[in-house]
Amino acid sequence: MSSSGLATTCRTAVTTALAGLCTAFSMAAPPPAPSPFGTTKEGVPVHLYTLTNRNGMKAEITNYGATVVRLLVPDRSGKLDDVVLGFPALDGYTSDAFRKSNPYFGAIVGRFGNRIAHAAFTLEGKTYQLAANNTPGGLPCSLHGGSKGFDQVVWEATQVTRKGADSLEMRYVSKDGEEGYPGTLEVTVSFSLTASNDLKIQYLAKTDKATPVNLTHHGYFNLRGEGQGDILGHQLTLKASHFTPVDKGLIPTGKLLPVKGTPFDFLAPHTIGERIAAVEEQLGFGGGYDHNWVIDRKKKGLALAASVVEPASGRTMDVFTTEPGIQFYAGNFLDGTLTGKGGQAYPKRSGFCLETQHYPDSPNQPSFPSTILKPGQTYRTTTVYHFGVKR
Ligand code: GLA
Repeated sequence: MSSSGLATTCRTAVTTALAGLCTAFSMAAPPPAPSPFGTTKEGVPVHLYTLTNRNGMKAEITNYGATVVRLLVPDRSGKLDDVVLGFPALDGYTSDAFRKSNPYFGAIVGRFGNRIAHAAFTLEGKTYQLAANNTPGGLPCSLHGGSKGFDQVVWEATQVTRKGADSLEMRYVSKDGEEGYPGTLEVTVSFSLTASNDLKIQYLAKTDKATPVNLTHHGYFNLRGEGQGDILGHQLTLKASHFTPVDKGLIPTGKLLPVKGTPFDFLAPHTIGERIAAVEEQLGFGGGYDHNWVIDRKKKGLALAASVVEPASGRTMDVFTTEPGIQFYAGNFLDGTLTGKGGQAYPKRSGFCLETQHYPDSPNQPSFPSTILKPGQTYRTTTVYHFGVKR
């Protein structure tokens, strides 16, 4: 036998033996190769990575913005539907129309998720000026990391298998001074799709100078299926006895208000639509729900923050997190000008967000839990979106 023939025979034997071993030890097959998703305006190609589990669930995630593009989840009869808003290709996320309304579909937002008042904060005696990229109520602030936040950068992706689950590790290094923030921040966000229908997101960051950090996932969910109308019939429970009321610029006043007796009380389930149109100052400021709830927790670690039931499909989603707060945003700013993956327009309230986080404007609010990460410390948070069905 020639040497190349021998090499081929050896390779085949090794591959067969490995496949046999995988079967014998019920190990997961290697993850599918990523597919092209488009090329950024700077000429960088980005990809779409697929995570699957044994129940048919599938998450498709691009390394542009570490964005969850599709999330296929079974309903009570086992039918899979895509339950997140998004676009079929990169150009949807970079289009002028998308950038103008800036809904952050499915992305990881950072370095600081949600708002910082007056687009400035003072840390260790120095004032840092950020881009004022948002002006609710006519009041300028910095939103979701500034003009080019983590939702618009290309992350380095590595597919791995973690505890038997398909996982994707996304890494991004935000340079010292990027978007006005101090310190080089090394960020890793890991997505795992587990056999128990959990989409688990783990966040890790390290810095070389003190800096505010607040990372979250900005997925828009519609458990009936994306493009299938509004989310007003979804039943929501929030494990929170208090929320952080805002001013007309959607900046927290610094108070924690009891939800009791207000449309913000979701301690028992209510449909999102039931009280959203109530004449109430806070709902007026947000144009509906767009607030941070203070999660009731007895100890540190993962706690149940929110539960959602969609009665028609039977799909349910539970959100567990290590974070102290959760922003429930009812998609009030969607206006039907964007058309999604299934060819359907996304009108007002066609998706809702449950963004686990530290409270908005924490860098300017000494009474809120600190968001300052210092050199030598590790930022570590976890959020789990668990999917199920109610029969
Ligand atoms: C967050 C904010 C909202 C809105 C969306 C993006 O949820 O709280 O006010 O800016 O992001 O459109």
